[in-house]
Amino acid sequence: MSYLEATNDLYKKAALEPEVGLCCTTTPVWALPGLEIPQIMLEMNYGCGSTVDPRDLVNNPRILYVGVGGGMELLQFSYFSRQKGGVIGVDVVDEMLDASRRNFKEAEKMNSWFKSDFVDLKKGDALSLPLEDTSVDVAAQNCLFNIFKVDDLKKALAEMYRVLKPGGRLVLSDPISDGGMPDNLKEDDKLRALCLSGSLPLKEYIDLITSVGFGTVEIRARRPYRVLDPKHYDTPQLIYIESVEVCAIKDPMPKDGPCVFTGKTAIYYGDDQLFDDGQGHTLLQNQPLAVCDKTAGNLAKLGRDDIYISESTYHYNGGGCC
Ligand SMILES: C[S@@+](CC[C@H](N)C(=O)[O-])C[C@H]1O[C@@H](n2cnc3c(N)ncnc32)[C@H](O)[C@@H]1O
Repeated sequence: MSYLEATNDLYKKAALEPEVGLCCTTTPVWALPGLEIPQIMLEMNYGCGSTVDPRDLVNNPRILYVGVGGGMELLQFSYFSRQKGGVIGVDVVDEMLDASRRNFKEAEKMNSWFKSDFVDLKKGDALSLPLEDTSVDVAAQNCLFNIFKVDDLKKALAEMYRVLKPGGRLVLSDPISDGGMPDNLKEDDKLRALCLSGSLPLKEYIDLITSVGFGTVEIRARRPYRVLDPKHYDTPQLIYIESVEVCAIKDPMPKDGPCVFTGKTAIYYGDDQLFDDGQGHTLLQNQPLAVCDKTAGNLAKLGRDDIYISESTYHYNGGGCC
């Protein structure tokens, strides 16, 4: 059995019988006026962060969600989109599609604004999406792509890139592990499927996202997630796993490489009213300017003693240099 078949098997079981704690979201579940989440969706919350952000949802976007789970995030996206077929849900596991369909019926009873047909559920594979090129504005996945081995992950990212319109946004939430993962755990199909041993170092994860063409990447959150310790797992040392929330924008790739925002800020504190780096960045005196890592690096290279550049916060909320 391949690791992909083992994954389908695991999620078939998790669809038939909710497995609380299979994954664990590190973001509080959205609490919004008039939004009630059925208990079964909470029990089937198999994500590790959130991919729903109203800032991505301006101008009535067509939304794609890959790997539906119990349907909670599709309901949350529907809260903002509120129209027939506004959210397309794709999953490769029939039982998961059936479970989310049932859960949407529950959600209908609890939310007068919601109708099941707001979500268009489709059987399909993240590695070969059943959608036209450039047909969606926002594409999201939560805690699925980390399961894929690198070649498949590249395919899945390239598929999201393909179906997004220019300027469209890919929102992802996945575990990452900067300490690296031992090969024996990486090759453990069950641990991979459980979102425990497929995690990559953050830089590698971001490099793969930009390698398929995304010109801008924002790291919106980075939080402690899990540990794999030698007592419970076949590892000589403790492995620390974090979860990240990332938004990748289908912007043209800048000539000098992608703009990756990790939460760095530059502050000019010289005697003039402003500092202009001649590259399109104006730093007003003692005003913060969010900068991408590339701009932060270029400013640091100037070697000035009147520009402060902060460390990455990994909580970037928009705005800034590029
Ligand atoms: C870890 S769960 C995450 C579910 C949901 N995103 C959430 O946050 O609760 C992974 C989901 O991806 C689905 N899945 C697994 N392999 C897939 C594939 N190759 N293509 C599409 N969906 C897949 C599973 O059936 C399951 O619904």
